[in-house]
Amino acid sequence: MDLSVTIAGIRFPTCVMNASGARCVTYEELERLGQSRSGAIVTKSMTREPRQGNPEPRYFSFPGGSLNSMGLPNLGYPAYAHLIPALRRFKKPIVASIAGFQPEDFIEGVRYMNEAKPDLLEINLSCPNIPGKPQIGYDMEASERLLQMIKAHTELPFGVKLPPYFDPVHHEAMAQILGRVGVSFLTAINSIGNALVVDPDHESVVIKPKGGFGGLGGPIIKPVALANVRAFWKLLGDRMPIIGTGGIQTGIDVFEHLLCGATAVQVGTVLVEEDIRVFDRIETELREYLDRKGYRSAIACRGRLKEL
Ligand code: SIN
Repeated sequence: MDLSVTIAGIRFPTCVMNASGARCVTYEELERLGQSRSGAIVTKSMTREPRQGNPEPRYFSFPGGSLNSMGLPNLGYPAYAHLIPALRRFKKPIVASIAGFQPEDFIEGVRYMNEAKPDLLEINLSCPNIPGKPQIGYDMEASERLLQMIKAHTELPFGVKLPPYFDPVHHEAMAQILGRVGVSFLTAINSIGNALVVDPDHESVVIKPKGGFGGLGGPIIKPVALANVRAFWKLLGDRMPIIGTGGIQTGIDVFEHLLCGATAVQVGTVLVEEDIRVFDRIETELREYLDRKGYRSAIACRGRLKEL
């Protein structure tokens, strides 16, 4: 069974990798991803300055999902630029996730990465957790301006990590932008921003930042993630690889993302909960399920979802 995939000319040994955010902040965590069965090493979204992130508690797990408002805790562009060359020894793709608070930040991040040379850049347009900073991906004009600027400053292949969209008109507008800019891939979806979980016993919110509002992840968001993967697949088809993320817990969840049109997938909540051994379990489950279905590779089922 061949689980390898190729995105922007880069071969991934398996189609399941970590989502930016989960266990990928420190050098030790990135090394562990290198040693694991993750198909790539995806860094935490990095910013110009190192950040401690939002005050705690900032992560809450509940049956069916998770709520986070981490606030981009990370080591900063220069530190990741320094670490990335040492991660090459794991011989799997390195995906550098770039965030920022203004366009100049992203350009600075890209300059650092031009030196460090990860295999791919994933431009994060969708962090919902910075007080006072809206998700760029919901502003179509700002997104296009930023992506065009990035394109002008790097030769590295780059993709975008998008927020969930809930209306076809937004999928269409973003698909056109991605086509015009010529990005190499898209990742859908980031957590569903500004959700609220209530603790009725304590009559309280469950996380501290932003009055309890945070990004919803885990199994509860899988239908929204699948809908976004499917919508972009129908608009962009073979022209743009999609990395599906959202709600993946099992190999069958991966299969569902592939059927909807994903080329590869990322796991977040389940990686936080189960640690890196999750990659072995999901890979085994995916292999068995594809085999049972008569597929000989992960890519063979891509986009084959039947409509009624
Ligand atoms: C965070 O650090 O708050 C999450 C990052 C993201 O959702 O992009």
